[in-house]
Amino acid sequence: MQKGSKKYYGKQGEYLHEHALYLQQADLQKDLDFIVKALGIKKHKPVLDIACGQGRHVHGFTRRGYSVDGVDFSSYFLAMAKKTTDKSLKIQPTFYRSDIKKFVGKKKYTYAYWFFSDLADIDLPKALQAISRNLEVGGRLLLDTDSIFRLLSFLEKHKKSSLVFDAQRMELMDTEHDSVIPYPVFFQWQAWLKEAGLRIERVIGDYQFQPYSVSSPRLIMIIKK
Ligand SMILES: C[S@@+](CC[C@H](N)C(=O)[O-])C[C@H]1O[C@@H](n2cnc3c(N)ncnc32)[C@H](O)[C@@H]1O
Repeated sequence: MQKGSKKYYGKQGEYLHEHALYLQQADLQKDLDFIVKALGIKKHKPVLDIACGQGRHVHGFTRRGYSVDGVDFSSYFLAMAKKTTDKSLKIQPTFYRSDIKKFVGKKKYTYAYWFFSDLADIDLPKALQAISRNLEVGGRLLLDTDSIFRLLSFLEKHKKSSLVFDAQRMELMDTEHDSVIPYPVFFQWQAWLKEAGLRIERVIGDYQFQPYSVSSPRLIMIIKK
């Protein structure tokens, strides 16, 4: 039986149901504009969508004429991504089924983005090393994560939630979904990225390019190999 995030993103999982409103209201074009600007993406260079889900960003980029592939561990979501691919377009995406930490693509990517990430149950040092191996030297990664400051203020306001924060391990225990979500502080990210041969170029706190601060909803890192 599947547990934790594997179950959550599988056929019987609750992700799509829990995020129905978010996915319905999300402004895909804004996301794409943000990713292009933040990474400085040039057309015709290969791009990787890490944890691409149902492929909403891959499809959006492909429609714009970018060359984007996706990787995800959920065969359920990948089947949806393949089914919704517009076969009439000249550039066709490749979708890979793999855990991020084990991913080996058929080519090196100039850009990669891990957008709207869910870090539950992920071995981050190993995942960053795998991402680095799939990036060209000089390539860039956008890593978009929840902000620990947003989480702590949420937990203060919702003391009865099923979420428990382990302040020593810097991990959130989600008993409802049977998963553990790492919340590394900034300098921990820096250290792991360095071990993976990567360095942070820029830090942003939201999708409007505001600087990262204690009131930021996101921690978004632009990273170079
Ligand atoms: C919050 S969803 C975001 C999906 C997509 N990026 C989007 O914005 O629609 C997180 C995605 O991460 C994938 N995922 C979670 N853990 C993973 C892992 N260890 N390896 C590969 N994919 C993973 C899930 O299957 C899911 O598609």
